[in-house]
Amino acid sequence: MDFKTQSAGASGLPGLAADALLVVLASADSAATLDKPLADELARAIRDGDFVCKAGQTLYAHRVPGIKAGRVAFAFAADGGAKAFRKAVLAGLGLLKGGGARTAAVVAAGLTLTPAHAEALVMAAADALYVYRETKPSAPAASKLATLMLVCDKADAAALNAALHIGQAVADGCTLARETANRPANHCTPSYLAQLAKQLGKEHGFKVEVLERKDCEKLGMGSFLAVAQGSDEAPKFIVARWMGGGKNKAPVVLVGKGITFDTGGISIKPAADMDEMKYDMGGAASVLGTLQAVAQLKAKVNLVGIIPACENMPSGRAVKPGDVVKSLSGQTIEILNTDAEGRLILCDALTYAERLKPAVVIDIATLTGACVIALGYHRTGLFSPDEPLAAELLAAGDKALDPAWRMPLDEEYDEALKSHYADMANVGPRAGGAITAAMFLKRFAGKLRWAHLDIAGTAWKSGPAKGATGRPVPLLTHFVLSRAG
Ligand code: BES
Ligand code: MN
Ligand code: ZN
Repeated sequence: MDFKTQSAGASGLPGLAADALLVVLASADSAATLDKPLADELARAIRDGDFVCKAGQTLYAHRVPGIKAGRVAFAFAADGGAKAFRKAVLAGLGLLKGGGARTAAVVAAGLTLTPAHAEALVMAAADALYVYRETKPSAPAASKLATLMLVCDKADAAALNAALHIGQAVADGCTLARETANRPANHCTPSYLAQLAKQLGKEHGFKVEVLERKDCEKLGMGSFLAVAQGSDEAPKFIVARWMGGGKNKAPVVLVGKGITFDTGGISIKPAADMDEMKYDMGGAASVLGTLQAVAQLKAKVNLVGIIPACENMPSGRAVKPGDVVKSLSGQTIEILNTDAEGRLILCDALTYAERLKPAVVIDIATLTGACVIALGYHRTGLFSPDEPLAAELLAAGDKALDPAWRMPLDEEYDEALKSHYADMANVGPRAGGAITAAMFLKRFAGKLRWAHLDIAGTAWKSGPAKGATGRPVPLLTHFVLSRAG
């Protein structure tokens, strides 16, 4: 899909050369400011009781007299902000995407367009038009909509175009993450992720190295390998490097949980909804999506993605509750619950990250059901002992409309991880489960500037709209871009 800005020109909205118009209204009085044919159409609909000026309301009108574009959609936004704009565009495009329009002009009334709005437009369009079809030949045909024009003043065009360009990269990264996470676990294996990373590296110019099981054994990644040992799928430890910032600049390191399926292992999960554990590589998918976005924008920053990838399976070779393993850091771990596997693969990846002498390390993981209980499905859980880093990540999330919420890491929570037989246990009691998981990771972050994002509630949606969201690619991309200066 193509995005550009467009000035209304001498003939105004009625004369715009587009197959469709999407009019986003951010206030009730803004209706009256529209060109007469549009204002009249809306007034008739309001009079007939077919439209009210309320957030979420939409209206479709065909062949509006006096309007060159054959299709008009109206969408009402809650306020003039970028978030409300994104929701309204998503709803409005829902009315246009299945029709014959190939080009649509988007008009905002009653709000001031900013770069954040332009980016929100691209995100909404990508969201509205996304269809999973990889393993579903009967999926609906792709939308004919191919070009969106954001109608704006000439003076704002340059800034808005730049934002559309960034938005496009973020949206592409998001779509890549969605597509990868939606793929069933018999398709999306650790080997598939490794191949995908290599292919993306070739396409976008980053270096990809894949450590095999024997390489990980040599290094001493006993914790990662303990999770992998129950599966017939070969584990892969993927390291991808985008070096846009020059040789001597310390990289931002992203560590993504890449459990391509989480059965729970010997501590096996209940059957209900277990299919959703194919999304347990959502952190890995977001790392690949962010790498792609940053590379696509040729950002002047060094970014390394680390993805420990394996399956968590029960078998005759699987790790058992009570087994003690030695992590890459040298610390030993009593695996009391094999379903707390995410932290076991991430801890070795965090230790590995130290050798890259990173500026900061962020891990991203569908880590705990407890985080979903704490924060629900809207905000990602953010854990970091580093105040400035936490503030930077929260700001990036707000800016990208991909919000996070800070959670505590008081030392008192650490006691839950005491073990009789090892330096630590891999689980504590149920209460505060998202925090003890983060405390576990903290023990491996050492002196690194580190943050942890628990995306268990935000990486995918359940229910009728089941599917990966691509989050937190927007947050991460904005974070990395802001560091590129
Ligand atoms: N991948 C899961 C976390 C998860 C569960 C995310 C459900 C989203 C929905 C993780 O590996 C896990 O199983 N965590 C356990 C930890 C527990 C055993 C301490 C959990 O949350 O139940
Ligand atoms: Mn698990
Ligand atoms: Zn898991």
